[in-house]
Amino acid sequence: MTTTQPRIQWLGRWGFVLAATGSAVGLGNIWKFPYMTGEHGGGAFVLVYLACILAVGVPVMMAEIALGRRGRGSPVDAIRRVVTESGRTGAWSLLGWMAMLCGFLILCFYVVVAGWSFSYLGKMLSGGLAAGSVDDMVAIFAANNASPWNLGLWSTLVTVITMVIVGKGVQGGIERSVGWMMPGMVVMLLILIVYGVFSGGFAEALGFLFIFDAGSLSSEGLLAALGHAFFTLSLASGAILTYGSYLPADASIARTALTVAVADTLVALMAGLAIFPAIFANGMDPGEGPGLIFMSLPLAFQAMPLGTLFGVLFFTMLSMAALTSSVSMVEATVSWLCDRHGLSRRAAAWGAGSLLWVISTLAMLSFNIGADWTLAGRHLFDWLDYLTSRWLMPLGGLGTVLLAGFVLRADLLREELGLVAPGYTLWLLMVRYVSPLGILVIFVDALGIAEVEFGVHWPWLLAMLVVITLVGELSSPRLKRSLRG
Ligand code: PHE
Repeated sequence: MTTTQPRIQWLGRWGFVLAATGSAVGLGNIWKFPYMTGEHGGGAFVLVYLACILAVGVPVMMAEIALGRRGRGSPVDAIRRVVTESGRTGAWSLLGWMAMLCGFLILCFYVVVAGWSFSYLGKMLSGGLAAGSVDDMVAIFAANNASPWNLGLWSTLVTVITMVIVGKGVQGGIERSVGWMMPGMVVMLLILIVYGVFSGGFAEALGFLFIFDAGSLSSEGLLAALGHAFFTLSLASGAILTYGSYLPADASIARTALTVAVADTLVALMAGLAIFPAIFANGMDPGEGPGLIFMSLPLAFQAMPLGTLFGVLFFTMLSMAALTSSVSMVEATVSWLCDRHGLSRRAAAWGAGSLLWVISTLAMLSFNIGADWTLAGRHLFDWLDYLTSRWLMPLGGLGTVLLAGFVLRADLLREELGLVAPGYTLWLLMVRYVSPLGILVIFVDALGIAEVEFGVHWPWLLAMLVVITLVGELSSPRLKRSLRG
């Protein structure tokens, strides 16, 4: 059963913020966010994304940190303790299982993408990216994927580094590594932005990211923004909850969550400012899609003075951002193995790492010898992405807000969050009504039950939100009751 030793805590005042920001800032910010912005029309997408982070991301993150700190355990154990304390059924710990599984499965394909970043760093250094056209770049990317040995080597390297860090423990491994990787990453990003300012295309990039053109936003973009808010803040995957379980009792959860969300958003926007100038300066298409940083960007760098140097800087930064995230994805599992099964950190890390290696290697093969191994039209790699981002994350997010908003004793979370009336009321309204409705809309759309056209349906959605909130609060004056706490 669960051990009773007091749980280890972050050593430094900034331990949690750095580690959680390290978790949040990753391939999602530097790889996905810029190409999503490119695909969904720029400024309008950015604005909606910011709204999703504030209205859904931050409240959910606060709930997760509070659950972790109150329960002081891996997601499974923490949730079980907190629901038991509230006199509710332990079945809610299923949510913890789901989160743990979600983090682990994300990592199974994340190490492959992180492997791309490491291999591109190698290519930048060795001059392997010398190409004359986008077509050449596409060929290089394809060749990189075509060899299972090559691709496998890089994803294995990422797996090994991740496990070495995690195996060294919360303070000596995670906290220590994020302590230099995060500042290092930000410095490199700043250098890249300054480079962008002087090498042309910067004004265009600014306009692209920050000029709001409502006409360019599609419903698809909106849903993508909402889904991405979960991914980029590492929610519903056990990462934030487990990191929260190491948070000292006197830290303010609201302030901490807000700091992490702001830092994550700033890095995403800064990544846009580092990437798009090069793209525009070379007359390339910002809506290139997933290949943006692996094909267009290296080509753009080549055409610029000192391009190789900055290319190396870019892929070093990307690789570090990926590592500080992958570490957090497996921490829930490792902490569960330690708490529950009494394994040492090192044994837990290598045990989890071995399974991870097997699944991620199979996922990596989707790009070469396993190209035909599909199930219902998807490779393992695509399945992992689809299952986690379309199902486990939204479901886990929904479970978390329902748990926090309706199931747990109100005084308990209120005490843990340490909020007073206006802030607390706002948080409660968000987790009870705004977040669940937002998540349900993602589901309705993902399941193809109905096409959600925000341009047409927004008055209905808004009316629905108001009605549900009013009915919810008037039928049982929960809000009043929980405010009295
Ligand atoms: N937030 C990370 C990124 O943006 C991804 C991540 C998801 C990390 C889930 C941990 C847990 O890349």
